[in-house]
Amino acid sequence: MKLSTLAGSHIVATGSAVPDIKISNEILSRIVDTSDTWISTRTGIKERRLLPKHKSIIDLAADAANEALDNALLSPSDIDLIILATSSQNDLFGSASQLQAAIKAKNAMGFDITAACSGFLIGLITASQFIQTGSYKNILIVGADILSRWVDWSDRSTCILFGDGAGAAIIQNTQKNDILGFHLNTNGAEAKQLSISYQYSPEATSSSYRQQSPPSGRYNYLRMNGKEVYKFAVSNVPKSIKKSLNELQISTDDISWLLLHQANQRILEAVADKLSIPTEKVVSNIAQYGNTSAASIPIALNECFEKGKICNGDIIVIAGFGAGLTWGTLVVQWNAIESN
Ligand code: UT7
Repeated sequence: MKLSTLAGSHIVATGSAVPDIKISNEILSRIVDTSDTWISTRTGIKERRLLPKHKSIIDLAADAANEALDNALLSPSDIDLIILATSSQNDLFGSASQLQAAIKAKNAMGFDITAACSGFLIGLITASQFIQTGSYKNILIVGADILSRWVDWSDRSTCILFGDGAGAAIIQNTQKNDILGFHLNTNGAEAKQLSISYQYSPEATSSSYRQQSPPSGRYNYLRMNGKEVYKFAVSNVPKSIKKSLNELQISTDDISWLLLHQANQRILEAVADKLSIPTEKVVSNIAQYGNTSAASIPIALNECFEKGKICNGDIIVIAGFGAGLTWGTLVVQWNAIESN
Protein backbone atom coordinates (compact mmCIF):
# COMPACT_ATOMS: atom_id res chain seq x y z
CA MET A 1 0.00 0.00 0.00
CA LYS A 2 1.55 3.28 -1.12
CA LEU A 3 0.74 6.01 1.38
CA SER A 4 -0.60 9.38 0.26
CA THR A 5 1.04 11.64 2.77
CA LEU A 6 -1.09 14.02 4.79
CA ALA A 7 1.45 14.59 7.55
CA GLY A 8 4.87 12.98 7.73
CA SER A 9 5.78 10.24 10.23
CA HIS A 10 9.38 10.43 11.33
CA ILE A 11 11.20 7.87 13.50
CA VAL A 12 12.78 10.25 16.01
CA ALA A 13 14.45 7.75 18.30
CA THR A 14 14.59 4.14 19.44
CA GLY A 15 15.55 2.29 22.62
CA SER A 16 15.79 -1.26 23.90
CA ALA A 17 16.19 -3.30 27.05
CA VAL A 18 17.13 -6.91 27.70
CA PRO A 19 17.56 -8.73 31.02
CA ASP A 20 21.11 -9.37 32.30
CA ILE A 21 20.71 -13.15 32.70
CA LYS A 22 22.13 -15.02 29.68
CA ILE A 23 21.16 -18.61 28.93
CA SER A 24 23.70 -20.21 26.61
CA ASN A 25 23.11 -23.25 24.41
CA GLU A 26 25.46 -25.10 26.73
CA ILE A 27 23.18 -24.38 29.74
CA LEU A 28 20.13 -25.47 27.75
CA SER A 29 21.79 -28.76 26.82
CA ARG A 30 21.80 -29.56 30.55
CA ILE A 31 18.03 -28.97 30.74
CA VAL A 32 16.80 -30.73 27.56
CA ASP A 33 18.25 -33.22 25.07
CA THR A 34 19.94 -30.76 22.74
CA SER A 35 23.39 -29.41 21.87
CA ASP A 36 25.14 -26.18 20.96
CA THR A 37 25.85 -27.70 17.53
CA TRP A 38 22.18 -28.46 16.82
CA ILE A 39 20.91 -25.07 18.00
CA SER A 40 23.66 -23.07 16.28
CA THR A 41 23.41 -24.79 12.93
CA ARG A 42 19.59 -25.03 12.81
CA THR A 43 18.80 -21.57 14.18
CA GLY A 44 21.93 -19.39 14.51
CA ILE A 45 21.12 -18.79 18.20
CA LYS A 46 24.00 -18.88 20.70
CA GLU A 47 22.30 -17.41 23.76
CA ARG A 48 19.09 -15.71 24.90
CA ARG A 49 18.09 -13.50 27.86
CA LEU A 50 15.81 -14.47 30.73
CA LEU A 51 13.82 -12.05 32.88
CA PRO A 52 14.15 -12.90 36.60
CA LYS A 53 10.98 -13.74 38.52
CA HIS A 54 10.88 -10.50 40.48
CA LYS A 55 10.79 -8.39 37.28
CA SER A 56 7.77 -7.86 35.05
CA ILE A 57 7.27 -7.13 31.38
CA ILE A 58 6.43 -3.56 32.37
CA ASP A 59 9.94 -3.13 33.89
CA LEU A 60 11.49 -4.17 30.57
CA ALA A 61 9.07 -2.14 28.44
CA ALA A 62 9.62 0.95 30.63
CA ASP A 63 13.42 0.67 30.34
CA ALA A 64 13.18 0.50 26.54
CA ALA A 65 10.66 3.38 26.45
CA ASN A 66 12.77 5.59 28.74
CA GLU A 67 15.85 5.03 26.57
CA ALA A 68 13.85 6.06 23.47
CA LEU A 69 12.55 9.16 25.31
CA ASP A 70 16.12 10.13 26.34
CA ASN A 71 17.39 9.63 22.79
CA ALA A 72 14.51 11.74 21.44
CA LEU A 73 15.12 14.49 24.03
CA LEU A 74 11.43 14.30 24.88
CA SER A 75 9.76 14.17 28.26
CA PRO A 76 7.13 11.49 29.04
CA SER A 77 4.44 14.17 29.10
CA ASP A 78 5.13 14.90 25.40
CA ILE A 79 3.78 11.48 24.43
CA ASP A 80 0.18 11.48 23.14
CA LEU A 81 -0.27 7.76 22.54
CA ILE A 82 1.42 4.54 23.70
CA ILE A 83 1.01 1.36 21.67
CA LEU A 84 2.32 -1.71 23.49
CA ALA A 85 2.78 -4.72 21.24
CA THR A 86 2.98 -7.82 23.41
CA SER A 87 1.60 -11.33 23.65
CA SER A 88 2.85 -11.93 27.18
CA GLN A 89 1.08 -9.09 28.92
CA ASN A 90 0.60 -8.75 32.68
CA ASP A 91 -3.12 -8.42 32.32
CA LEU A 92 -5.47 -9.83 29.68
CA PHE A 93 -7.32 -6.50 29.67
CA GLY A 94 -4.11 -4.89 28.42
CA SER A 95 -0.83 -3.67 29.89
CA ALA A 96 -0.24 -0.40 28.02
CA SER A 97 -1.91 1.51 30.86
CA GLN A 98 0.60 0.03 33.34
CA LEU A 99 3.40 1.18 31.03
CA GLN A 100 1.83 4.66 30.84
CA ALA A 101 1.88 4.84 34.65
CA ALA A 102 5.42 3.40 34.92
CA ILE A 103 6.95 6.03 32.63
CA LYS A 104 4.63 8.81 33.90
CA ALA A 105 3.31 9.66 30.44
CA LYS A 106 0.33 11.42 31.97
CA ASN A 107 -1.00 12.87 28.71
CA ALA A 108 -0.89 9.62 26.76
CA MET A 109 -3.69 7.25 25.91
CA GLY A 110 -2.47 3.65 25.74
CA PHE A 111 -3.60 0.38 24.21
CA ASP A 112 -2.17 -3.06 23.46
CA ILE A 113 -1.69 -4.92 20.19
CA THR A 114 -1.59 -8.71 20.54
CA ALA A 115 0.04 -10.06 17.41
CA ALA A 116 3.13 -11.90 18.65
CA CYS A 117 6.13 -11.51 16.35
CA SER A 118 4.31 -9.16 13.94
CA GLY A 119 3.12 -6.95 16.81
CA PHE A 120 5.71 -4.19 16.66
CA LEU A 121 5.39 -3.84 12.88
CA ILE A 122 1.59 -3.59 13.16
CA GLY A 123 2.04 -1.10 16.02
CA LEU A 124 4.36 1.11 13.99
CA ILE A 125 1.98 1.07 11.01
CA THR A 126 -1.01 1.82 13.28
CA ALA A 127 0.89 4.70 14.89
CA SER A 128 1.76 6.18 11.50
CA GLN A 129 -1.97 6.31 10.63
CA PHE A 130 -2.64 8.46 13.72
CA ILE A 131 0.27 10.71 12.77
CA GLN A 132 -0.72 11.04 9.13
CA THR A 133 -4.27 12.07 9.97
CA GLY A 134 -2.86 14.73 12.26
CA SER A 135 -4.51 13.22 15.36
CA TYR A 136 -1.33 12.92 17.43
CA LYS A 137 2.14 14.45 17.40
CA ASN A 138 4.32 12.02 19.39
CA ILE A 139 3.63 8.29 19.61
CA LEU A 140 5.60 5.70 21.56
CA ILE A 141 5.50 2.15 20.22
CA VAL A 142 6.95 -0.61 22.39
CA GLY A 143 7.41 -4.25 21.41
CA ALA A 144 7.97 -6.44 24.47
CA ASP A 145 7.69 -10.14 25.17
CA ILE A 146 8.75 -12.54 27.90
CA LEU A 147 7.95 -15.85 26.27
CA SER A 148 10.32 -17.62 28.71
CA ARG A 149 7.26 -17.65 30.98
CA TRP A 150 5.06 -19.32 28.35
CA VAL A 151 7.33 -22.01 26.90
CA ASP A 152 7.43 -25.58 28.15
CA TRP A 153 10.99 -25.92 29.46
CA SER A 154 10.88 -29.66 28.78
CA ASP A 155 10.05 -29.15 25.06
CA ARG A 156 13.35 -28.86 23.20
CA SER A 157 11.65 -27.86 19.96
CA THR A 158 10.52 -24.52 21.42
CA CYS A 159 12.37 -23.64 24.65
CA ILE A 160 15.69 -23.23 22.80
CA LEU A 161 14.27 -20.56 20.49
CA PHE A 162 12.81 -17.79 22.60
CA GLY A 163 14.32 -15.02 24.71
CA ASP A 164 12.98 -12.04 26.67
CA GLY A 165 13.35 -8.40 25.65
CA ALA A 166 11.79 -5.07 24.77
CA GLY A 167 12.36 -2.44 22.10
CA ALA A 168 10.81 0.98 21.56
CA ALA A 169 10.46 3.66 18.91
CA ILE A 170 9.01 7.16 18.99
CA ILE A 171 7.45 8.54 15.86
CA GLN A 172 6.64 12.16 15.39
CA ASN A 173 4.58 14.35 13.09
CA THR A 174 7.14 16.21 10.95
CA GLN A 175 7.28 17.73 7.49
CA LYS A 176 9.35 14.89 6.04
CA ASN A 177 7.97 11.38 5.94
CA ASP A 178 9.93 8.19 6.72
CA ILE A 179 7.09 5.71 6.24
CA LEU A 180 6.75 5.02 2.51
CA GLY A 181 4.39 2.06 2.38
CA PHE A 182 3.35 -1.26 3.88
CA HIS A 183 1.56 -4.57 3.40
CA LEU A 184 -0.11 -6.63 6.10
CA ASN A 185 -1.65 -10.10 5.85
CA THR A 186 -3.39 -12.67 8.01
CA ASN A 187 -4.14 -16.35 7.41
CA GLY A 188 -6.30 -17.34 10.36
CA ALA A 189 -6.93 -20.80 8.91
CA GLU A 190 -3.37 -21.70 9.94
CA ALA A 191 -3.54 -20.18 13.44
CA LYS A 192 -3.04 -23.64 14.96
CA GLN A 193 0.57 -23.74 13.70
CA LEU A 194 1.71 -21.38 16.48
CA SER A 195 -0.40 -20.62 19.51
CA ILE A 196 -0.79 -20.26 23.25
CA SER A 197 -4.34 -21.50 23.44
CA TYR A 198 -6.84 -21.59 26.25
CA GLN A 199 -8.00 -25.04 27.29
CA TYR A 200 -11.08 -25.82 29.36
CA SER A 201 -10.65 -28.32 32.16
CA PRO A 202 -12.28 -31.76 31.52
CA GLU A 203 -15.00 -31.03 34.13
CA ALA A 204 -15.99 -27.91 32.23
CA THR A 205 -16.61 -29.85 29.00
CA SER A 206 -18.14 -33.05 30.46
CA SER A 207 -21.82 -33.73 29.93
CA SER A 208 -22.41 -34.30 33.65
CA TYR A 209 -24.38 -31.99 35.92
CA ARG A 210 -21.23 -29.87 36.03
CA GLN A 211 -22.05 -28.75 32.49
CA GLN A 212 -24.21 -26.16 34.16
CA SER A 213 -21.33 -24.79 36.27
CA PRO A 214 -19.20 -21.95 35.00
CA PRO A 215 -16.48 -23.21 32.64
CA SER A 216 -12.88 -22.93 33.81
CA GLY A 217 -9.49 -23.82 32.41
CA ARG A 218 -6.03 -22.44 31.79
CA TYR A 219 -3.66 -21.42 29.04
CA ASN A 220 -1.47 -24.10 27.47
CA TYR A 221 2.25 -23.65 26.89
CA LEU A 222 3.37 -22.16 23.57
CA ARG A 223 3.01 -24.77 20.83
CA MET A 224 4.57 -24.45 17.38
CA ASN A 225 4.80 -26.61 14.27
CA GLY A 226 8.29 -25.33 13.43
CA LYS A 227 8.50 -26.85 9.96
CA GLU A 228 5.19 -25.36 8.82
CA VAL A 229 5.97 -21.92 10.26
CA TYR A 230 9.38 -22.05 8.59
CA LYS A 231 7.83 -22.85 5.18
CA PHE A 232 5.17 -20.14 5.67
CA ALA A 233 7.81 -17.50 6.44
CA VAL A 234 10.19 -18.35 3.61
CA SER A 235 7.36 -18.48 1.09
CA ASN A 236 5.26 -15.44 2.12
CA VAL A 237 7.76 -12.86 3.41
CA PRO A 238 9.66 -12.41 0.10
CA LYS A 239 6.33 -12.05 -1.76
CA SER A 240 5.15 -9.39 0.70
CA ILE A 241 8.43 -7.49 0.36
CA LYS A 242 8.37 -7.67 -3.45
CA LYS A 243 4.78 -6.43 -3.55
CA SER A 244 5.60 -3.47 -1.30
CA LEU A 245 8.71 -2.54 -3.30
CA ASN A 246 6.94 -2.89 -6.67
CA GLU A 247 4.19 -0.50 -5.59
CA LEU A 248 6.79 2.04 -4.53
CA GLN A 249 8.88 1.41 -7.66
CA ILE A 250 11.90 0.64 -5.52
CA SER A 251 14.35 -2.01 -6.69
CA THR A 252 15.92 -4.49 -4.26
CA ASP A 253 19.28 -2.94 -5.23
CA ASP A 254 18.11 0.31 -3.62
CA ILE A 255 17.59 -1.31 -0.22
CA SER A 256 20.15 -0.29 2.40
CA TRP A 257 19.01 -2.71 5.12
CA LEU A 258 16.79 -5.78 5.28
CA LEU A 259 15.50 -6.03 8.84
CA LEU A 260 13.45 -9.17 9.42
CA HIS A 261 11.90 -10.58 12.57
CA GLN A 262 14.74 -12.55 14.16
CA ALA A 263 13.27 -16.05 14.23
CA ASN A 264 15.96 -18.17 12.61
CA GLN A 265 19.22 -17.27 10.84
CA ARG A 266 18.29 -19.73 8.08
CA ILE A 267 15.03 -17.80 7.47
CA LEU A 268 16.94 -14.50 7.26
CA GLU A 269 19.32 -16.00 4.70
CA ALA A 270 16.61 -17.77 2.67
CA VAL A 271 14.50 -14.59 2.39
CA ALA A 272 17.53 -12.48 1.42
CA ASP A 273 18.55 -15.12 -1.11
CA LYS A 274 15.09 -15.14 -2.75
CA LEU A 275 15.30 -11.36 -3.09
CA SER A 276 18.98 -11.39 -4.20
CA ILE A 277 19.91 -9.10 -1.29
CA PRO A 278 23.55 -9.55 -0.20
CA THR A 279 24.11 -10.85 3.35
CA GLU A 280 25.98 -7.71 4.42
CA LYS A 281 22.67 -5.81 4.13
CA VAL A 282 20.81 -8.30 6.34
CA VAL A 283 20.46 -7.20 9.97
CA SER A 284 21.04 -10.08 12.37
CA ASN A 285 21.44 -10.26 16.14
CA ILE A 286 19.71 -13.60 16.64
CA ALA A 287 22.94 -15.15 17.98
CA GLN A 288 22.77 -12.99 21.13
CA TYR A 289 19.03 -12.78 21.84
CA GLY A 290 17.20 -15.65 20.09
CA ASN A 291 13.61 -14.97 19.08
CA THR A 292 12.27 -12.15 21.28
CA SER A 293 8.88 -12.09 19.50
CA ALA A 294 7.43 -8.53 19.38
CA ALA A 295 10.73 -7.14 20.69
CA SER A 296 12.96 -8.56 17.98
CA ILE A 297 12.45 -5.89 15.29
CA PRO A 298 12.78 -2.82 17.58
CA ILE A 299 15.83 -4.29 19.39
CA ALA A 300 17.53 -4.84 16.02
CA LEU A 301 16.44 -1.40 14.77
CA ASN A 302 17.82 0.27 17.89
CA GLU A 303 21.10 -1.59 17.48
CA CYS A 304 21.37 -0.29 13.90
CA PHE A 305 20.87 3.31 15.08
CA GLU A 306 23.28 2.87 18.03
CA LYS A 307 25.98 1.53 15.72
CA GLY A 308 25.41 4.41 13.29
CA LYS A 309 24.51 1.97 10.51
CA ILE A 310 21.43 3.90 9.35
CA CYS A 311 22.26 7.10 7.46
CA ASN A 312 20.17 9.89 5.97
CA GLY A 313 18.09 8.58 3.04
CA ASP A 314 18.68 4.89 3.76
CA ILE A 315 15.88 2.56 2.73
CA ILE A 316 15.09 -0.02 5.40
CA VAL A 317 12.77 -2.88 4.57
CA ILE A 318 11.25 -4.26 7.77
CA ALA A 319 9.25 -7.50 7.73
CA GLY A 320 7.55 -9.38 10.53
CA PHE A 321 5.84 -12.77 10.64
CA GLY A 322 4.49 -15.21 13.15
CA ALA A 323 1.44 -16.34 15.10
CA GLY A 324 -1.96 -15.61 13.64
CA LEU A 325 -0.58 -16.42 11.17
CA THR A 326 0.29 -12.84 10.33
CA TRP A 327 3.00 -11.26 8.24
CA GLY A 328 3.81 -7.92 6.72
CA THR A 329 6.32 -5.46 5.34
CA LEU A 330 7.03 -1.82 6.10
CA VAL A 331 9.27 0.27 3.85
CA VAL A 332 11.04 3.12 5.60
CA GLN A 333 13.25 5.82 4.13
CA TRP A 334 14.89 7.43 7.11
CA ASN A 335 15.42 11.20 7.14
CA ALA A 336 18.04 12.50 9.54
CA ILE A 337 16.05 15.59 10.43
CA GLU A 338 15.83 17.53 13.66
CA SER A 339 12.76 16.74 15.74
CA ASN A 340 10.33 19.64 16.09
O1 UT7 B 1 8.61 -16.21 15.78
C1 UT7 B 1 7.60 -16.92 15.14
C2 UT7 B 1 8.08 -17.51 13.92
N1 UT7 B 1 8.78 -18.75 14.22
C3 UT7 B 1 9.56 -19.26 13.31
O2 UT7 B 1 9.75 -18.68 12.27
C4 UT7 B 1 10.17 -20.62 13.57
C5 UT7 B 1 10.22 -21.38 12.25
N2 UT7 B 1 10.79 -22.74 12.39
C6 UT7 B 1 12.09 -22.94 12.62
O3 UT7 B 1 12.87 -22.02 12.79
C7 UT7 B 1 12.59 -24.37 12.57
O4 UT7 B 1 11.58 -25.22 12.05
C8 UT7 B 1 13.02 -24.92 13.96
C9 UT7 B 1 14.31 -24.25 14.41
C10 UT7 B 1 11.92 -24.66 14.99
C11 UT7 B 1 13.28 -26.42 13.88
O5 UT7 B 1 14.26 -26.69 12.87
P1 UT7 B 1 14.02 -27.82 11.77
O6 UT7 B 1 15.22 -27.87 10.95
O7 UT7 B 1 12.71 -27.51 11.10
O8 UT7 B 1 13.94 -29.12 12.67
P2 UT7 B 1 12.76 -30.17 12.80
O9 UT7 B 1 11.64 -29.63 13.62
O10 UT7 B 1 12.43 -30.73 11.44
O11 UT7 B 1 13.46 -31.33 13.60
C12 UT7 B 1 14.54 -32.08 13.02
C13 UT7 B 1 15.05 -33.05 14.07
C14 UT7 B 1 13.93 -33.89 14.70
O12 UT7 B 1 14.45 -35.19 14.95
P3 UT7 B 1 14.13 -36.41 13.95
O13 UT7 B 1 12.64 -36.52 13.94
O14 UT7 B 1 14.69 -35.99 12.62
O15 UT7 B 1 14.82 -37.54 14.59
C15 UT7 B 1 13.68 -33.20 16.01
O16 UT7 B 1 13.19 -34.09 17.00
O17 UT7 B 1 15.66 -32.35 15.12
C16 UT7 B 1 15.07 -32.75 16.37
N3 UT7 B 1 15.08 -31.60 17.27
C17 UT7 B 1 16.15 -31.32 18.06
N4 UT7 B 1 17.31 -31.93 18.24
C18 UT7 B 1 18.17 -31.36 19.10
C19 UT7 B 1 14.12 -30.65 17.43
N5 UT7 B 1 14.54 -29.74 18.32
C20 UT7 B 1 15.78 -30.13 18.72
C21 UT7 B 1 16.71 -29.60 19.61
N6 UT7 B 1 17.89 -30.25 19.78
N7 UT7 B 1 16.47 -28.47 20.31
